Amino acid sequence: MKKIGVFTSGGDAPGMNAAIRAVVRTCFYNNIQPYGIYEGYKGLIEGDIHPLTSKDVSNIIQRGGTFLKSARCKEFHTKEGRQEAYNNIKKYELDGIVAIGGDGTFTGAKIFNSEFSIPFVGLPGTIDNDLFGTDYTIGYDTALNTVIEAVDKIRDTANSHNRLFIVEVMGRDAGFIALRSGIAVGAEAILVPETQTYINELVTKLESGTKNHKNSMIVIVAEGDDAGGAYKVAEKVKEHCPNYDSRVTILGHIQRGGSPSAMDRVLASRLGNAAVDALLANKTNIMIGVVNNEITYIPFSKATKHHQKLNADLLKLAEVLSF
Ligand code: F6P
Repeated sequence: MKKIGVFTSGGDAPGMNAAIRAVVRTCFYNNIQPYGIYEGYKGLIEGDIHPLTSKDVSNIIQRGGTFLKSARCKEFHTKEGRQEAYNNIKKYELDGIVAIGGDGTFTGAKIFNSEFSIPFVGLPGTIDNDLFGTDYTIGYDTALNTVIEAVDKIRDTANSHNRLFIVEVMGRDAGFIALRSGIAVGAEAILVPETQTYINELVTKLESGTKNHKNSMIVIVAEGDDAGGAYKVAEKVKEHCPNYDSRVTILGHIQRGGSPSAMDRVLASRLGNAAVDALLANKTNIMIGVVNNEITYIPFSKATKHHQKLNADLLKLAEVLSF
């Protein structure tokens, strides 16, 4: 293996830069020339591919976002787009590719792999944590910490005004961010897409909070919850409890930015290093994760979302502690 390309794709996640750095530095350690592919699959199709130096990845481990930039690329969904990507891989003589991204990235990689035989490994980079085959994805821990910092502040104002806050967090159609952040902020209720939401049960919970003289109440809603987003939930609660002084906060893209946490920097560094080692060991068509603190390999087809389940113990914990 003489040349390896690396790209980031899909929604950016804190720690992606740390992963790129680890790929690049491990390449040089093994006398391999790394290439940066800009804007994910788009750069692969358009030939936006450039050799990287070790210096190019200095001073980026602590930065959020991705210096290789990211995109969600429609052209890669077409056979012609994938053919162009293949042509560029050949043109630049790349012997292997490291793709850092989420579900969409690996679905694309899986299709590409079935058409063209190019060594391809993936690293889980998404704040959503919705990939099977890894306990944590790069960016999830930082996003959790961002949510916690924001909701702690909301709690101060909620307490001062005896208010109910309905806070919406990201996660597309998964509830991982909602569940863990909800436990960490002591939320009175957590609504996730993985379990059916019943507004009457939520109202009963809130009323028992009022009876217990709670000064403030926080409901964390995952953006993909079946009851709708935070505004929808607030509306429905209002129908049952018109006297509640309630407010809605949508945390939005603040959750995707910021300097990666120690957990994410170390996870990304381990995975970036393991990606190059895996290519050198002739592994392909796999996502690399960490399970029980060990590096693991899983076929792209198994990694994609809806396989990963919310931890039942954490769901129960949230229920017990919010009582
Ligand atoms: O997958 C990461 C994520 O932030 C999801 O949590 C969210 O639903 C989505 O991306 C938002 O995507 P975009 O930035 O393209 O609006």
